[in-house]
This record gives sequence, structure tokens and C-alpha cells, in this order.
Amino acid sequence: MTVGSLEGKTAFVSGASRGLGAGLASRFAEVGMRLVLCSRTPPVFDSGENVLARTLDVRDEDALEVLVGEAEKRFGAIDLWVNNAGVLDPIRPIRDVALDEFREHIDINLVGVFLGTRTYVRHLRRLGHGGVLINVSSGAAWHPYAGWGPYCAGKAGVERLTEVVAVEEAESGLRAHSVAPGVIDTAMQERIRASSPEDFPEVERFHELKREGGFNSPRFVADEFLAIAFDPERRPETVAFRLASEADSSP
Ligand SMILES: NC(=O)c1ccc[n+]([C@@H]2O[C@H](COP(=O)([O-])OP(=O)(O)OC[C@H]3O[C@@H](n4cnc5c(N)ncnc54)[C@H](OP(=O)(O)O)[C@@H]3O)[C@@H](O)[C@H]2O)c1
Repeated sequence: MTVGSLEGKTAFVSGASRGLGAGLASRFAEVGMRLVLCSRTPPVFDSGENVLARTLDVRDEDALEVLVGEAEKRFGAIDLWVNNAGVLDPIRPIRDVALDEFREHIDINLVGVFLGTRTYVRHLRRLGHGGVLINVSSGAAWHPYAGWGPYCAGKAGVERLTEVVAVEEAESGLRAHSVAPGVIDTAMQERIRASSPEDFPEVERFHELKREGGFNSPRFVADEFLAIAFDPERRPETVAFRLASEADSSP
């Protein structure tokens, strides 16, 4: 897959104001893609010839529909859809998590992904087009981190939801994957490192990671996502998987 070969293709990225989402948007723009971006605070790029950017909450069903309607008119079919928006809080043992906090977390990290997924499936079916869905997961979908109850539960839910839609839409031209992107040094990692060992007993491991390096860069993750979506030779065999670490993948 050569850089610059994706001109005319369109990607949707949620959570595009900072962190991984902003990095995905930047790399996708660099390879010539048109972008549909959203987040609660303004996305990394303003709207322009090749960018449709909106401030919206992924829990807002109507706002998502309006955005996709606008995208359809401007760009036609969306080739790659990345449900990336996510939160980590509350970080503390389940016994200390309030019901409202749990509900709010699941509403963003799981219901938001459900809404994004459904919106994309309906969009593709309306246009009679195929496409690739990537739901951003986490190692927390597999590993029970003490202190991350809502996050682990939400990401595990994202994985199963993605597996179900992959089966449901197998004949319709949608390819769906949930991808754990590895550890990326974003605001979310700063939040993790700011946790107390009482709330998050494995916090020292994340301080160690910061000292020793070993993060995946957003650009590396973006290129992996592009390969998953557009390089027939890199098509993953499973719906749910984790990216290798960038350090291990370097020649
Ligand atoms: N960083 C890591 O090491 C790591 C590892 C595994 C998985 N992940 C996953 O990667 C994704 C991105 O994480 P990150 O590290 O880039 O986190 P981040 O720096 O905190 O960025 C999160 C993004 O999501 C957006 N967002 C949060 N809630 C939203 C909502 N309700 N509606 C719309 N946008 C919302 C935020 O924008 P606004 O605040 O402007 O809305 C922001 O753009 C998440 O799904 C996370 O779980 C990250």
C-alpha cells in the first residue's frame, strides 16, 4: 500500500479532538483521504474542502444521523469508519462506583459504539456500498484490571458487539474488526498515571512504561488501521485482535 494511494476514499473518526483520534485524522489526511470527524470539543481539523468536522457527543443519536446525512451528500460512501471516542473514568473498585457513573461510562464507551456501528451499517445499506468498521478496543477487554470495572466491561462489550455485527453483515459487504491499539501516550495514559495504587493497583506498570518507552505512536496505529482496511494482503483473519507493539514491528 503506497502513501497517497487513498485519495478519494473517506474515513469517519470519532473522538478526533486529541489523542489517538486526532492522530488517526492527521495520518488519514496525509494519505489523501477525506474526513468526517467528531468529538465534544472541536476536532483537530476544521471543516474544509475535504473535511467535515462537527462537535457532537457520540451518545447523541440524532446528531450522528445529521452528520452522516451531510457526509453522504458531500462525499458519498464512507469507506472506513472508526469508533474511537472513549473515556476511562471512573477508576476505582466496583464497590465504590456510583450507579450514575457506571451508566455514564457505558453510555459513552458501549452505547456510543453501538450507535456509531448502527449508523454506519445503515449508511452502507442505504448506499449499497461495502466498507470497513474498526471499533477501538483495549487489552482491558481481556484482562480484568482491578479499578477499571466499567472500562473492562465496556470494552469486552465492544468486542462482542463487533463480532455480532460482523456475522450479521457478512453478506452485505461490511468488514468489522475490534482492534486493541496497544498503549499510546495520550491524555488517557496521563489519567492512568495520576491514579492512586489504592484505586488502581497496577499503576506502577504504567509509570514504568513511561520511563522505559514502548508506546505505540498514533501514526503507527493509523497505518495499521489503513492496512487492515485497504491492503488485501494484511486482511486480519479474526474480528477481534490486538496490534503488535510498534517496537516489535520495527525492522
Ligand atoms: N491511550 C491508550 O493507551 C489506549 C489503549 C487502548 C485503547 N485506547 C482507546 O483508544 C481510544 C482513544 O483513546 P485516547 O487514548 O486517545 O484518549 P483521549 O486522549 O482521552 O481521547 C479521547 C477522545 O474521545 C473523545 N470523546 C470522549 N467522550 C466522547 C463523547 N461522549 N463523544 C464524543 N467524543 C468523545 C474525546 O474528545 P472530547 O473530550 O472533545 O469529546 C477525545 O477526542 C479510546 O477508545 C480508548 O479506550 C487507548
